[in-house]
Amino acid sequence: MTKPRILLTHQLPPKAMSLLDQHVDAELMDSDTINQSAIIEGLRDKEALLCLLTETIDAEVLSASSHIKVVANVAVGFNNIDVDKATALRIPVTNTPGVLTETSADLAFGLLMASARRIVESEKYLRSGQWHGWGILQFLGTDIYDSTLGIIGLGRIGKALVRRARGFNMKVIYWNRTRLPEDEESALGITYAPFDEVLRQSDFVSVHVAYNNETRHLLSHREFEQMKSTAHIINTARGPIIDENALVEALKNGGIGGAGLDVFEEEPKVHPELLTMDNVVLLPHIGSATIATRTKMATMAVKNLVAVLEGKRPPNVVNPEIYD
Ligand code: DGY
Repeated sequence: MTKPRILLTHQLPPKAMSLLDQHVDAELMDSDTINQSAIIEGLRDKEALLCLLTETIDAEVLSASSHIKVVANVAVGFNNIDVDKATALRIPVTNTPGVLTETSADLAFGLLMASARRIVESEKYLRSGQWHGWGILQFLGTDIYDSTLGIIGLGRIGKALVRRARGFNMKVIYWNRTRLPEDEESALGITYAPFDEVLRQSDFVSVHVAYNNETRHLLSHREFEQMKSTAHIINTARGPIIDENALVEALKNGGIGGAGLDVFEEEPKVHPELLTMDNVVLLPHIGSATIATRTKMATMAVKNLVAVLEGKRPPNVVNPEIYD
């Protein structure tokens, strides 16, 4: 029996590749030449698209490919896809929630620690041969234990971060569009505060909201001005939630103490001034990058795609209204 033909933008982990091969005939794109026109061209004779968050699946791509049955994204975030357009064309869009929660929270906490304790900066110093002995004033950082962690956006990853913070006896305050029920707040040991209060009271602010039109530049000049001059901002969600120019200014003029960033406004570009600063830790969007987690994400995306091709509702659809 002939298998459905699909377009795969990048090679996936081996387990996901073999699952994919069992069900479909996948054409793998050349990662060096992927752009919107190449995707449109590749989709002409395909039934589905399996892509990463690095691909922009905008209205133009979707309109030119309105015959496809599904766009399966290997990510929990789906801001790279014009979901409204997909919905209008009745194309289901799928994502990979849940499987990357703990791994992403680990990295957010790792960035918090690296930024607070100047781990990367001091490691660079040692490697460059400048270290000539223990010094009482060397690389003095910020205590993590007993400090206040402010979480902006208390979804799955935000809650997983709370569990890590508990081990460090941190006081956790949070802001979320919708406040949690009181019993859940007390089970987690956290306190709700208005957005500005979270900024004002926290020693560390970690961003965990989804990226959309409402959260673009959620943190800009006004918000950095609210924060303590010693505070650290951690972003493992999406770059454009933070106004990078405002962040650079706050870091330069002592408005805040430091930053740990895994995501950037225009990836893979990084604001040139951030690259020169010692009080920032910069990572290449590796929040979910473990062998186990990336395998789970890719496998989940394949299952979503296969479900649609088999005429079923996919387990993780982000525009469920098309099934109403
Ligand atoms: C996602 O899945 O949205 C993450 O950013 C990938 O690490």
